[in-house]
Amino acid sequence: MAKRLHIKNYGCQMNAYDATRMADVLAPLGYNHIAQPEEADLVILNTCHIREKASEKIYSELGRLRAIKDARNDAGQTMMIGVAGCVAQAEGAEMLRRAPYVDMVFGPQTYHRLPEMIARANRENEIKNNCGRGVIDTEFPVNPKFDSLPMASSQGPSAFLTVQEGCDRFCAFCVVPYTRGAEFSRPVVDVMAEARDLVDAGAREITLLGQNVNAYHGLSPGKGEWRLAALIEELASIRGLERLRYTTSHPRDMTSDLIQAHRDIDILMPYLHLPVQSGSDRVLSAMNRRHTAADYLAIIDALRDARPDIALSSDFIVGHPGEGDEDFEDTLSLVDRVGFAQAYSFKYSARPGTPASAMENALPENLKAARLSRLQDLLNQQQARFNKDCVDQVLPVLLDRHGRADSQLSGRSPWMQAVHVNFDGTAVTERAFGNIINARVVSAGPNSLAALPESGSEKSGKELAAL
Ligand code: SAH
Ligand code: SF4
Ligand code: F3S
Repeated sequence: MAKRLHIKNYGCQMNAYDATRMADVLAPLGYNHIAQPEEADLVILNTCHIREKASEKIYSELGRLRAIKDARNDAGQTMMIGVAGCVAQAEGAEMLRRAPYVDMVFGPQTYHRLPEMIARANRENEIKNNCGRGVIDTEFPVNPKFDSLPMASSQGPSAFLTVQEGCDRFCAFCVVPYTRGAEFSRPVVDVMAEARDLVDAGAREITLLGQNVNAYHGLSPGKGEWRLAALIEELASIRGLERLRYTTSHPRDMTSDLIQAHRDIDILMPYLHLPVQSGSDRVLSAMNRRHTAADYLAIIDALRDARPDIALSSDFIVGHPGEGDEDFEDTLSLVDRVGFAQAYSFKYSARPGTPASAMENALPENLKAARLSRLQDLLNQQQARFNKDCVDQVLPVLLDRHGRADSQLSGRSPWMQAVHVNFDGTAVTERAFGNIINARVVSAGPNSLAALPESGSEKSGKELAAL
């Protein structure tokens, strides 16, 4: 029987991948995804625990869902609520105590068991008149979920593929090692099979995902293990795959073979998100990052040597416990020195159970806010400059979504910029998605570029408009 599923996703790309895989697990049970929760038989919130704000958002969203659930029950219908992801993993039973109307609480490593969880929750609800005790599954199973997941369905021209999960690095501020568990790499043959399925289903770009993706060390087809560079080389042989990316990397695992891959493998895009968090060695040490600012800069130099046009992105935390004025100045100088194409920056947020949350030298909120705004000013300037330098350049753009007007389609440049391509007033449809078009950049905004089709693409602007 057809049922309606609504998944609301928060957090990182790995959560986005997990959400698509949850839908894959539920499809054989008759669940179709819908865009809004109101008509859904099952609503899943796929949550993120990384900062306090992210976690707290979930309870306000649950309050809203409770009202929808009550209204549906009053109308003689049912709605099941599942909470997945990293908040679910961290809170487990506590979540059911705070929100007893939730039917299922399960973590990032157990969603392959959703069919059993739903059956159990249904049984309980039948016995207890729609208010069962709720099902909790926050185990870290011995057999990874990947062994039980069905074939991946289409994600469109640009797809995510998780190759590595979990993290053993234990940065002092971070909850991920606790919510995602120990590091694990998928075997090469499994990754290759999923990548081929994705390409057969229309992917032209694949982003390999892992919390610490460049620590990848999967079982090789022969004996032994392959690191990420070898995996990328193998993936590059798949016909029809035009672009590869990987995220997120740790500087410590940026090995020379991976840096060389940026020189040797042309479908590996010239873009890297490499979080540094701080430019101060003292803070980096307090964070347990186990590298210095100089180590980071040496990696950037080596990357630029291997691939001169590589664009760089990073994550920063300001106001980590103990961060002094000089430490913050060191962060600004590192940013100055590197020149980022874009970056994410956050105020430090104390997370329960992490070593940093027990440190005694926490900073006041207003100081963190002032530092964040200075850092963001600098990063925004760099991003604006990077984008402006693209004006008049011809860039290959992988079209994968609608633009603002009927005659506009959008996609990404090799450097991950959003590019809006205007087809001269001619309506273009999603049939053009998946094409890589050469587009001349005519103007640059802070977060995107506007461009016009150029000759030399797989298909001309006119041909795409006629599709
Ligand atoms: N695995 C990735 C990123 C993990 S989370 C890595 O190793 O870099 C994404 C980003 O969130 C981090 O890079 C960090 O900048 C930020 N972050 C993590 N914990 C945080 C905290 N407690 N407060 C503020 N930002 C945090
Ligand atoms: Fe968190 Fe550090 Fe692991 Fe990244 S490397 S997931 S920041 S513990
Ligand atoms: Fe958030 Fe979990 Fe990803 S905490 S950032 S959803 S790994």
